[in-house]
Amino acid sequence: MSDKATLTIDGKSYEYDVITGSENERCIDIKALRSETGCITMDPGFGNTGSCYSSITYVDGANGILRYRGYPIEEIAEKATFVETAYLILYGELPNPRQLADFRASIAEHAPLHTSLEHHFSGFPRSAPPMAILSAMLNIISCFHPEVLDVHSEGPGFDKTAALLLSKVRAIAAFSYRMATGKPLIHPNPSLSYCSNFLHMMFSEPYREYIASPVVEKALTLFLVLHADHEQNCSTSTVRVVGSSRANLFSSVSAGVCALWGPLHGGANAGVIRMLEDIKTSGRPISHYLDLAKDKSNDYKLMGFGHRVYKNFDPRSKILKKRVYEVLNELQQQDPLLEIALELEEKTLKDDYFIERNLYPNVDFYSGILLRAIGIPLNMYTVMFAIGRMPGWIANWKELHEHGQRISRPRQIYTGETTRSFVPLAQR
Ligand SMILES: CC(C)(COP(=O)(O)OP(=O)(O)OC[C@H]1O[C@@H](n2cnc3c(N)ncnc32)[C@H](O)[C@@H]1OP(=O)(O)O)[C@@H](O)C(=O)NCCC(=O)NCCS
Repeated sequence: MSDKATLTIDGKSYEYDVITGSENERCIDIKALRSETGCITMDPGFGNTGSCYSSITYVDGANGILRYRGYPIEEIAEKATFVETAYLILYGELPNPRQLADFRASIAEHAPLHTSLEHHFSGFPRSAPPMAILSAMLNIISCFHPEVLDVHSEGPGFDKTAALLLSKVRAIAAFSYRMATGKPLIHPNPSLSYCSNFLHMMFSEPYREYIASPVVEKALTLFLVLHADHEQNCSTSTVRVVGSSRANLFSSVSAGVCALWGPLHGGANAGVIRMLEDIKTSGRPISHYLDLAKDKSNDYKLMGFGHRVYKNFDPRSKILKKRVYEVLNELQQQDPLLEIALELEEKTLKDDYFIERNLYPNVDFYSGILLRAIGIPLNMYTVMFAIGRMPGWIANWKELHEHGQRISRPRQIYTGETTRSFVPLAQR
């Protein structure tokens, strides 16, 4: 197999290295393309563009494979807690008991939010979208920890900042819910696990403690673990682009939250539930929605279907589908939306439009039903995704710094007016 690619422009040939990754995926290194040929490449949406080398997460979209640091997602989902998964993603290895205990202790230590932050929370209107609050508050908390603004990719400063962010993102999310619903803030309980502590901050009352059942805790753990990283998706790339200017970790992940918010990315998990509700209440047959999704004269898409990378199935969706049944059974709940989701999946899998375009359920398709079962309100779904994705964002920011990556600065092909003279106002 050749390890060179030849490009011919205007009759002149140029050779570029072909680089192979550890899973044999290949790329053409075009770093010198513009300086040698004067040309750039055009790839809107970056479907064919490698933006970095990374050893964090491997996705094989053709075969439905996802691995964190080499470990298959199926094994991680079955055996690891979210804190263990976060450690693995951040530091590259599963923690030993001592490392895990220290990491847990550090996360617990950083759980409380500064009391002055309560004024910020109460300044938001009750209807404020929780993703806007999360993004804003991630930046604001850096003002209370000025030492973290000068943190680099390793050492105690980084370790503390990573634990602080993993811990506080959870408290910010829970506080925004409490404020929006007019409930008193519930402070963290360091004796609880990561997931139980979050649920306690969400659902305990001063007069009644919420105790998460093992089923609910396990379901939330699974949700967070499955969202922990997914290589160079839109929000992670955003974190890298922002971080490449050497912006601090807080502002970089805050930008990641904004990117995640969009309905084509993390916002799709709430979009799926809205779509299923709509199907349920409208009484229209599923075929009506398939026709709508296929009709190119509108923008309607089936939420929770399709993926830039997975052209087979999304392994996270498979895991979630199985677990949703178990959780509903264990909690003795029935969810009519699950029946609709199953019918929708079955029909799309037999439909030529979806078959030809390789559109399968993605991670967001069943995750909302899981979140509903454990009592998370709909407007918090994308925030839950953000809590889960935090380890991936931090790890990518760390790796970017370790690799000393250049500032991200794509080029363009200009298609506007060529030079023209300024026209004075009176002559326009
Ligand atoms: C995820 C997503 C943004 C990927 O976008 P992408 O890689 O740019 O894929 P494309 O838009 O090129 O899709 C290829 C074709 O499938 C169609 N398609 C993709 N997702 C579709 C969906 N959910 N419903 C209907 N058609 C869809 C596109 O319209 C396009 O059709 P065309 O070839 O006739 O023009 C896209 O599939 C989507 O919008 N899905 C719904 C939102 C969602 O679930 N997002 C969460 C992702 S984890």
